[in-house]
Amino acid sequence: MSVDHPSSVINSRGWFIVLDGPDGCGKSSQARMLADWLHGRGMATAGFRDPGTTVIGEKIREILLSPAHEAMTTPAEVLLYMAARVQLWTESIAPALKDGTCVILDRWLSSTCAYQGYAGGFGMDKVIEIAADTLEHVWPDLTIILDVDLDTAAGRLNRELDRMERKGDGYHRRVREGFLKLAQGRPDFAVVDATQSPATVHKAVAAAVEKALKPPV
Ligand code: TMP
Repeated sequence: MSVDHPSSVINSRGWFIVLDGPDGCGKSSQARMLADWLHGRGMATAGFRDPGTTVIGEKIREILLSPAHEAMTTPAEVLLYMAARVQLWTESIAPALKDGTCVILDRWLSSTCAYQGYAGGFGMDKVIEIAADTLEHVWPDLTIILDVDLDTAAGRLNRELDRMERKGDGYHRRVREGFLKLAQGRPDFAVVDATQSPATVHKAVAAAVEKALKPPV
């Protein structure tokens, strides 16, 4: 798949870094470790989650993830995830980046591409078109995909599953494939093997950040 995207544009503002991947990939702990690592280099960071963070986004998240909403269609999912994201950009991400803060984001458009676009059959290109029409800023400076196989991921999800997590093995296998396809050949993406220990994964994440991004000026 070919995707049009701007080259990395990070000079007069904070870095915009996304951690993404299949459910159970460990991105929340990696986000905390990355924030500590950036702090150690004197950088201010802010961590947000997509969908969520804003009052509106958290309400949309509840609607999206409630197991009671089994009837929700894939196009409805696309639009709701995008609505939460538009709000997140305006209320939280844009102001933080403008202040020179590094934003570490738990999921972003890459998730809509992999889940709804690829696994759900909506089409990755269609997802990206909607994003281009609705978001002020489409692609982060760096998206790190924490790649994990289904068995390892399932072993980490030892709690009650939400509506998306209940979609079944076939769907989640395609989600993983979708992430890998999206990342292919893109200099603004890095794929990290997330089956290893958190410390080893963190080293690979930090190396990807160091390689891809230059300090803001
Ligand atoms: P989280 O629990 O990792 O925050 O993600 C919420 C769930 O929503 C997770 O199963 C992935 C799914 N999701 C999508 O299906 N599409 C999206 O665009 C995003 C951001 C998340």
